[in-house]
Order: sequence, then structure tokens, then C-alpha cells
Amino acid sequence: MKITIDRNKQLGYINPDIYGHFSEHLGRGIYEGIFVGEDSEIPNTDGIRNDVIEALKEIEVPVLRWPGGCFADEYHWMDGIGPKSQRKKMVNTNWGGVTEDNSFGTHEFMRLCELLGCKAYINGNLGTGTPREMSEWVEYMTGTGSSPMTELRKKNGRQEPWKVDYFAVGNESWGCGGNMRASYYADLYRHYQTFLRTYDPENPIKKICVGPGTADTKWTKTVLETCYEDAQRAFHGFMDYITLHHYVFPDGWSNKGSATKYSDELWYKSLNKAVFMDTLIKKNEAVLDDYDPEEKIALCVDEWGGWYEVEEGTNPGFLYQQATMRDALIASATMDIFNRHCKRVKMACIAQMVNVLQAVLLTQGPEMVKTPTFYIFKMYKHHQGATAVDSYITDNEFEGPDEWKIPKVSTSASVKDGVTTLTVSNLSLTDATDVSVDFCGDTVQKILEAKIVTADDVRAFNDFGHDEAIAEKEYAGYRFDDGKLSLAMPAHSVVMLRLQ
Ligand code: AHR
Repeated sequence: MKITIDRNKQLGYINPDIYGHFSEHLGRGIYEGIFVGEDSEIPNTDGIRNDVIEALKEIEVPVLRWPGGCFADEYHWMDGIGPKSQRKKMVNTNWGGVTEDNSFGTHEFMRLCELLGCKAYINGNLGTGTPREMSEWVEYMTGTGSSPMTELRKKNGRQEPWKVDYFAVGNESWGCGGNMRASYYADLYRHYQTFLRTYDPENPIKKICVGPGTADTKWTKTVLETCYEDAQRAFHGFMDYITLHHYVFPDGWSNKGSATKYSDELWYKSLNKAVFMDTLIKKNEAVLDDYDPEEKIALCVDEWGGWYEVEEGTNPGFLYQQATMRDALIASATMDIFNRHCKRVKMACIAQMVNVLQAVLLTQGPEMVKTPTFYIFKMYKHHQGATAVDSYITDNEFEGPDEWKIPKVSTSASVKDGVTTLTVSNLSLTDATDVSVDFCGDTVQKILEAKIVTADDVRAFNDFGHDEAIAEKEYAGYRFDDGKLSLAMPAHSVVMLRLQ
């Protein structure tokens, strides 16, 4: 098998935000997982766990989406500001019916972004909120001068406005966000976005419109058609992104299967569904190319990842699951797809960051483990802000049951400051493979770094109180003679090389 890398054929800039995260008020995603409160015995900074901050800094989180998800369309931001003891409590009707005490609100989220050094992506409430509520939230966070909301923010201890990079008008409005039809949503989008004011012209908020969650492009078409019906609406700042959600339910929604005890067949089904991301993106790119040939609107895959049955004995509404090499490969194959589509895909957020679905970190009391997905993010961070270059595979083999065949190898490559980052995954459950790498006549002088993530037992996972079963390790399986590179890839493995 051969990978060809043509460094002269540039695919575009890999926006670092492709490596973004999502954190919702869901289960132990925020509370316990990130926020433990200032009085906790778990070491923290302003209530935010130090171990979690340190780990997330290692993978260089570029952007964080909050507060939902489905939760966003029932979240009233004013309940989450002011003295904590006076904050309204609510029932989290979407996720487990637990009491939400609103102790983690706007100020705490912006502090988290500050500690991580990442951009803030706020998801607004369209489902049960008003244009006024949405508009005032933006004014509260970013308003300058003297206005009711900026004064309120100052009263609550924050003098300077924050920088909010992204703001979404609703979430999954075709489902939990209000069961709307596309044309109805599009009219609401036109309406609500009008009142999302920019207070700092140097840093306009980028507006995000709800996109589809299936392979049917009817939603995308109708929304764009309705939004861009009058030519004058196609001005910059009306819509900057449209979303796409795609989860890997290995055997369908009602039979998702265990995160760790999956059959061989489910391995193939899961990865087949993961690489379906490529088709989904292509379909939506085609619609966007029609309506927006100048590429003003980007795709934002702000929910993606594997979704399995919850771990035994945990609250079904908390979506807590373990992670194995299957997740590592879902992540690497998906990120290769994002890299290759970087011209249109400018943001993506894995669901979710801590303790929920395909998390990068899991916590249990004061303990924390890094999942295999964490290590894939660590390897792939070198693609952030680089230029994607053409990379293709010849003689790629396909394996698995007929309707669930998967490509054996996935890859992507990028160049930044003269250094090429190459990521290669062997998706095979059983077979090792040898891959030669051809640089189209270009010479490679040295390997700066070579890392691998794999495990002998494909169903192994990193557990509390045990040594890590899966982590990023030095990779010695490459041969580099006379400028020629070849890789010996174990079954179910991900390799990252940095070359000059
Ligand atoms: O990530 C969990 C949920 O999945 C989100 O709240 C929702 O947007 C999606 O359906």
C-alpha cells in the first residue's frame, strides 16, 4: 500500500478550531468533571479542576462550545449570574431530571475559556428564549459603554467585556430544539440574528445557523434558500457558519451496544459510520457551493463522536461511557476527513469534552484518566493552523462484512513552518500492514518526531487506579533509508510523524 503526499498541492488552511470541544450541562460533564466549586478538596482554580485544566492544555483546546446541546434551548442565562446562593434552580429535563443549581454560569464559563486559553462558542436559546433574551446575553458579555446589561455585568464583578468568538442561534432546532420545520427555523434565524449586535468592530461575533443531523440535505437547502432569498442578505456577518451533527451509533439508536464489550461486527459498523462523515460533508459542501460560491459560510461539525450504552450502574441520562481503540480510530479517521475538507470545514467540536459520550477525560472523585481519544487529539494538534496538502492512498484495501466495509488505511498531511505532519491509521481489527510513503520527488531529510497509539487488546481502556492501557508512545516502526520512508503499522493503530 502506498501513501502519496504532494506538498505542492495545497488544500487550504486547517483552522485550529477543527480540533474544538463541546461541554454541556449534561450528567457529570460540567459539575464534577470540570467544575467542583471553590470549596472542594479537589485542587481547583476558581472552582475549576486543576488536573482537568492541565490535561486540556496539553492538547491545546482551540475553542469550547457551551452550554448545550439540547440543554441550550431551555437555558436562561440570567439564572446563572449574580451571587451563587441567589441563583435560581431548575430541573434539567433533557438529561436525567436532576437539579441544576446554576452555579456554573456565564462568568464561570468565560473563566474556564481564559484558563484554557481557548475561544468561546456560546449556544443561544432559540427554543424557549426571546430575541430580547438572546440579544441581552450578547450585550452582557460583550457590551461596551453604559447600558443596562453592561452595568449588570460590572455589578457582578466583571468590568471589561469578554471576547465571544461564536454565537449559535439554537441547537438541533429540527429535534430537541423545538421540532421546527426548516423554513420556520430559517425565518427565526433571520429574525434573531438581527439582534446579535457587535460591540467591538475589531472582533465581530461570528453567527452560527443550525444545520442538519442526517444525510438528507433538504434542511440545508431550505435554510439557505430562505435565508438568502433576498440578495442583500448575503452580506458578511449574516451567517458565518452552518452546523452539521453526526454520531456513530454502532448498531442503531436503540441498540448502541457496550463501549468496551463490542463484537467484531460492531467494530466494522462503527468505523464504517465514522467514515460516513466524508459523504455527509461532501453532500453539504455541494449545497453550499450552489448557494455560496464565494465560501462566506463555513461548515461547523459541532457534535461528533461515538455514542454507546452508558456504563453499567450509571444514570442513563448522564451518557457516561468508557473508550477503547475503537474511539481512537473514530477520532483519527474523522480528523483526517476534517483536514482534507478544511476549505469548508472550519470548526468541529467533539461530543463531549469530559465524562460525556466520546470524552477526552474521565473523572471519578479526585481521580482523572485520559482516554485514547485524548491521545489522538494530542498527536493531531500539530495539524492545527497548518496548510493541508494532498495525500492519497493507492491500493487501499477494504475489509469487513459486505455492507460495512471500511478502508484499511486513513491518512492526512499538513505543512507548517517547513515541517510536515503526517497522520496514518490502520483501521484493521486484525491485520498489520506496511505502508510506503511517496513525497512526489520531494526529499525528506529527517524525522523530527514519531508517535504511535495502539494496544494489544483492542477493547482495553484506561481505568481509574490502573496504569494506562493506551497512551501515546514513541514509534520505532518506521524505516527511513535514502530519503525513502515506510511504516510498519500494527493492527488498529494510529501513527503521527513530523518530518523535514
Ligand atoms: O451530545 C448530546 C446531545 O446530542 C446534545 O445535547 C444534542 O444536541 C444531541 O442530540
